[in-house]
Amino acid sequence: MNNFTYHNPTKIIFGEGTIETIGREIPKDARILMTYGGGSIKNNGVYEQVKNALKGHTLFEFGGIEANPQYSTLMKAVEVCRKENISFLLAVGGGSVIDGTKFIATAVFFEGEAWDILTKNAKTDKFVPLAAILTLPATGSEMNGFGVISRKETGQKLAFGRPPFTNPVFSVLDPTVTKTLSPRQRGNGVVDAFIHVTEQYMTYPSNSPVQDRYAESLLKTLIEVGPEYYPDPENMEAAKNLIWAATMALNGNLSCGVPVDWATHSIGHELTVLEGIDHGRTLAIVWPGMMHVMRDTKREKLLQYACRVWGITDGSDDERIDAAIRKTEEFFHSVSVPTRLSDYRLGKEVIGKVVANLKNNGFTTLGEKRLVTPEKVAEILTNRL
Ligand code: NZQ
Ligand code: ZN
Repeated sequence: MNNFTYHNPTKIIFGEGTIETIGREIPKDARILMTYGGGSIKNNGVYEQVKNALKGHTLFEFGGIEANPQYSTLMKAVEVCRKENISFLLAVGGGSVIDGTKFIATAVFFEGEAWDILTKNAKTDKFVPLAAILTLPATGSEMNGFGVISRKETGQKLAFGRPPFTNPVFSVLDPTVTKTLSPRQRGNGVVDAFIHVTEQYMTYPSNSPVQDRYAESLLKTLIEVGPEYYPDPENMEAAKNLIWAATMALNGNLSCGVPVDWATHSIGHELTVLEGIDHGRTLAIVWPGMMHVMRDTKREKLLQYACRVWGITDGSDDERIDAAIRKTEEFFHSVSVPTRLSDYRLGKEVIGKVVANLKNNGFTTLGEKRLVTPEKVAEILTNRL
């Protein structure tokens, strides 16, 4: 087990009807900018609930943050913050709105080209506090300090983080807001959460039984609850467990003391940039290939996963690993998330483009042992044709 420091300052307010409590969480004299996406919150009543809860507060709003939030849009919000002297940001949406709001919070007091925060890890020392009302369980952004920002002009999608300053001060997790999610977004969320766990679990043994069993409990919960949550928007018990599993999957807890991977995410981000495939869906393509190609470095954890998560105990090592990969793909299919490039009418021509983009961004040695080279990425994606 490795050394670690763990500090998660986000207060979680969980349950049905909890949006109305936010007025008590935000200082009365705050100048609040509420940020949101393409308008789903106006169709499902969440917008009204937030407005009602903040009567008596000074509230501005900024809508139009797109899925895979764009730098140019976020910089417009930064201008609003500067002009209106905003002192508190309230993100109302999924991972894209929350991530985008973390970037706004970081860029407001930054002098110079704010894109450097992503490309050069530019120094930042003052932040606007933010909070979140989560509308889509998937990314875990509601309880971590990280964000992923896209810039179509340069064809980049990059992660950044300034925890604890970019952690939400509080996040509201109200399961009723998930009722209006499309089946596609529901399935995406299940897969995204699942792969957040595997990226922090399926590396190599590090004598961290607490972390291993936390991870296995989340994987088993997602396997159990995902197929109940996916088809039934009215099933609030399933929604609650799904939300909590997704939040726990990426709030920093699982990575305490253990090696982490994240190569699947890096490759997936390029599929989003190049082909516009939703984040969760890119992971469902890449991850089975990652397990297949990197089986030697991941062997012990793959066998542990096969046994403890899927109950697979018969056959040779490779047979058990192959069975676990099959089970994983079947699970993704059970929430209607495809697992091959050909499901998106993509062939081998995309592989060279993904590899070139990764090289351009300097991602040439990915994974827990830095063994996922451009050649390995090509092998992984070839496995997914
Ligand atoms: O824009 P609106 O109108 O809100 O519609 C959104 C959007 O079209 C819609 N939606 C959200 N809540 C809804 C709803 N529709 C109906 N009812 C609701 N309750 O869903 C669509 C997708 O939303 P988005 O926020 O893009 O999805 P998600 O939460 O999956 O976020 C994806 C982004 O998060 C990043 C991804 O890379 C991607 O950019 N990630 C962030 C991470 C983090 N901060 O830790 C980790 C993840 O691995 C991921 O990379
Ligand atoms: Zn993800």
